[in-house]
Order: sequence, then C-alpha cells, then structure tokens
Amino acid sequence: MYCPDEIERILISEDEIKAKVAEMGRVLTEEYKDKNPLFICVLKGSVVFFADLMREMHCPLEINFLKASSYGSSTVSAGTVKLDVGAGIEFEGRHVVIVEDILDTARTLYSLKNDLITRNPASLKIVTLLDKPSRRVVKGFTADYTGFAIDDLFVVGYGLDYDERFRNLPYVGTLKPEVYS
Ligand code: PRP
Repeated sequence: MYCPDEIERILISEDEIKAKVAEMGRVLTEEYKDKNPLFICVLKGSVVFFADLMREMHCPLEINFLKASSYGSSTVSAGTVKLDVGAGIEFEGRHVVIVEDILDTARTLYSLKNDLITRNPASLKIVTLLDKPSRRVVKGFTADYTGFAIDDLFVVGYGLDYDERFRNLPYVGTLKPEVYS
C-alpha cells in the first residue's frame, strides 16, 4: 500500500471508509429514492468521497460541482471562504444534498448553505465524511449526516490535502507534525 513518509499513522482505513460509505448510501437511498436529488460535490476535497457515495446510491439522482476554498496552503483556516457557485445550476425546487469531505470551523458550509437557501431548493441537506466538532467557529452548526467524528488532528487522504498533496491516498491518515510545523 502507498504510504508516504510524511504520514504518521492511518486514522481511518480504506475498509472502514468503504463500510461507512456503503452504510451512508443505504440511508440516503432510502431518504431520496423518490426525489431525484441533486448531489453537489464541493471541490476539491470531496471528490473522492462523492464518487464513492454516488455509486452507493441505488436510485435516480443528478450531480453537479461547486468550488469552495478557505485554507490556501496553511493548516489553519484563513477565515474567509471563496465560493464559486456555478452559473447554470438550477437549484429551485430541487432536493439538494451538499457532499463535503470535512466539517471543521463550518465557515465553508455556513456560507454555502446561506447562499443556496436563497436559490429556493425544495430541501437542502449536508453530508460530510468527517467532522471535527471541537474546531467549530460557527457555533451549533452540524451536518445532517456524518461519517466519522474525529479529534482535532491534521488529516489527509481520501480527497483531503496538505498543500495540494496526499489527496490520492485511499485512507485518512495523520501527518507527521514536522511536515507542517
Ligand atoms: C476544506 C474542506 C471543506 C472546508 C472545511 O476545503 O474540503 O470545504 O475546508 O473547513 P471549514 O469547516 O473550516 O470551512 P479547502 O478550503 O481546504 O479546499 P479544498 O476542498 O479544495 O481542499
């Protein structure tokens, strides 16, 4: 298995992720099977989770992509969120499901949710693979569906990066502190 030197340890294995994504797919299929939902991938981090989750959805759905970024190349949130909500995506009347890799301060999803709500979706829910509740800045903000709640560790892999690296690891791992300190 590919495990770069910078990885300290595997926090969530490929098998654990696979089982969790299958379980989330079952729950979401049940909820959305008659709703032709619009699944939104929040680039870039969510791309791996999104691709796996949509294949665990056993019902009709549509997909689209948005770009949100807050971190730059630092390990701490910059506190500002850049949203690029694609022109031409029709949200009105749709059952929208935002798919994220990680909920951290919640600034990104708070901004995105507030933006999308003005576009009159029939419903709007948030799915995240990872949640770091101890890092929340937007108090009380939660996802509707969460895969794993984790401690305040700097994690990479399965779509998550450090300075654009490690997104291709099939597991979620922690970085050795010397990499980012
Ligand atoms: C990450 C992640 C979420 C956001 C969560 O994206 O994918 O979108 O940060 O952090 P928050 O809850 O503190 O807002 P990032 O801005 O690093 O961009 P990327 O997805 O392109 O890596």
